[in-house]
Amino acid sequence: KLQRKIAVLGFMGVGKSAVTIQFTEGHFAEPYSPTIENTFQKVIRHKGIEYQTDILDTAGQDEYQIFHTRYAMGIHGYILMYSIVSRRSFDMVSTIRDKLLNAVGTENIPHVLVGNKSDLVHEREVATEEGQRLADEWGVPFIESSAKFNTNIEEIFRKLILQCEAG
Ligand code: GTP
Ligand code: MG
Repeated sequence: KLQRKIAVLGFMGVGKSAVTIQFTEGHFAEPYSPTIENTFQKVIRHKGIEYQTDILDTAGQDEYQIFHTRYAMGIHGYILMYSIVSRRSFDMVSTIRDKLLNAVGTENIPHVLVGNKSDLVHEREVATEEGQRLADEWGVPFIESSAKFNTNIEEIFRKLILQCEAG
């Protein structure tokens, strides 16, 4: 099996854990419990190849935190996540990406941009087009997801694995 280490980064409360748990365990983690750090595993099959994914679910980052070097070492690809109901989380995702690229020392690192909580349509603060535009700027895939309704969750990980193969 090919091993792929993935880290999930983003502002606090955007749904990093809920997305990871929906993907690996198949249920929605409703009550909010802030993460310090967790790892999850799942095997996925893509084009006949089995991948052992190791997912590092990180603590929410804000502009004042230093970027942990362990988030930048031995990781094949990154999920950069904001919540469509939080403008601040959208602003933060660019800051976090800057820190990431700085830490890994190259722009050539597989990543995808994810706008989570797409089910909360009435509370939306970030338009789909804004997310798409940012991802286009970065030159990476863009996905809106809902951990609650399991919308596009597999898609996130598949797109990232594909990026890892291309890179
Ligand atoms: P930190 O670990 O503190 O950084 O937070 P996190 O990014 O891991 O967020 P978490 O997964 O804990 O989710 C925060 C809250 O948002 C929880 O109450 C989740 O149930 C909720 N939530 C996460 N994803 C979704 C979603 O797609 N839709 C809705 N409606 N709620 C969500
Ligand atoms: Mg968490």
